[in-house]
Amino acid sequence: MNAAQKLIREHNLTWEEFAELIKMADDPQVDALLAEEAVRIRKEVYGTDVYTRGLIEFTNYCKNDCYYCGIRRSNPNAKRYRLTEEEILACCENGYELGFRTFVLQGGEDPYFNDDRMVDIVRKIRAGYPDCAITLSIGEKSYESYKRFREAGADRYLLRHETANDVHYRKLHPEEMRLEARKQCLYDLKTLGYQVGAGFMVGSPEQTAETLADDLVFLKELDPQMVGIGPFIPHHDTMFAKEPSGSVPLTLFLLSVIRIMLPHVLLPATTALGTADPLGREKGLQHGANVVMPNLSPVKNRKQYDLYDNKICTGEEAAECRGCLGRRVESVGFTLVSDRGDFRS
Ligand code: 5AD
Ligand code: FES
Repeated sequence: MNAAQKLIREHNLTWEEFAELIKMADDPQVDALLAEEAVRIRKEVYGTDVYTRGLIEFTNYCKNDCYYCGIRRSNPNAKRYRLTEEEILACCENGYELGFRTFVLQGGEDPYFNDDRMVDIVRKIRAGYPDCAITLSIGEKSYESYKRFREAGADRYLLRHETANDVHYRKLHPEEMRLEARKQCLYDLKTLGYQVGAGFMVGSPEQTAETLADDLVFLKELDPQMVGIGPFIPHHDTMFAKEPSGSVPLTLFLLSVIRIMLPHVLLPATTALGTADPLGREKGLQHGANVVMPNLSPVKNRKQYDLYDNKICTGEEAAECRGCLGRRVESVGFTLVSDRGDFRS
């Protein structure tokens, strides 16, 4: 109990204490204590509002080969697609009508969408939707590229660090990918004035309490505006096909820990959490999450953005997801709002 109480008092722990705390995750009393404090803090900072982001998965081509991911380049079974600029803008239009005021452009690291093309798309969205936030989630780029996107009108950037432990990073990614490069990108993005999102999967192969303690220490140091975490879910075409899924209770526990560590953080109840447990997102909100990210991509492409097996909402129209999520959010006493949902410092 000590580490939990100290976290509540001081909003931080040493690496040893984080590791000790994580080992207490299956104690229902500790979980309840942290969840209660996490919800109290989120209500103090954000009231009962839940922010929503319209996720546009605009390409599943990827030059990377992350071992856990269904759209890794060496998966020949992935049916590849790219949305046209017109299709992307149509998703925004549809989303705007449904009340979305943040668009998240997420894709694999697709060389077709070079800086010029991305700048063009960001400019058009910026011009068409001056009251909306634009979030990019397109992987590792140079400082100069990030600068160009920022000047074109991008406000936020999501780039999960995946694991802050070097040895663990090596188990999840091929040699050419480096944790140091990933971290540098996150710091570059912060320097450029983006609202930055880091994060990791819970229960990825070979993750331990100790590697998770590394993640928490790193998050406290980076001090991002957003943190995305969700359970690892195996994809049948990857080398991790036979690995077990990440634990939902541990994910929920970590959501509470992150909310307490970073009281103002924007913290989504992720699609992976909703996939691993039918009530995962509701439980996430009850553990300190304050964001949901429904899918705005064209229904015809949704199944193709296949990062992990059994992903939810791949058959639903955007309007259905919006309605469904509104009801889900209300079922646990929160309200889905139509707002950019910026970080409150
Ligand atoms: N299970 C859960 N999450 C995954 N991601 C990629 N593959 C999986 C998987 N098999 C997550 C990564 C990535 C984000 C877009 O999706 O953390 O950053
Ligand atoms: Fe998509 Fe419920 S959120 S159908």
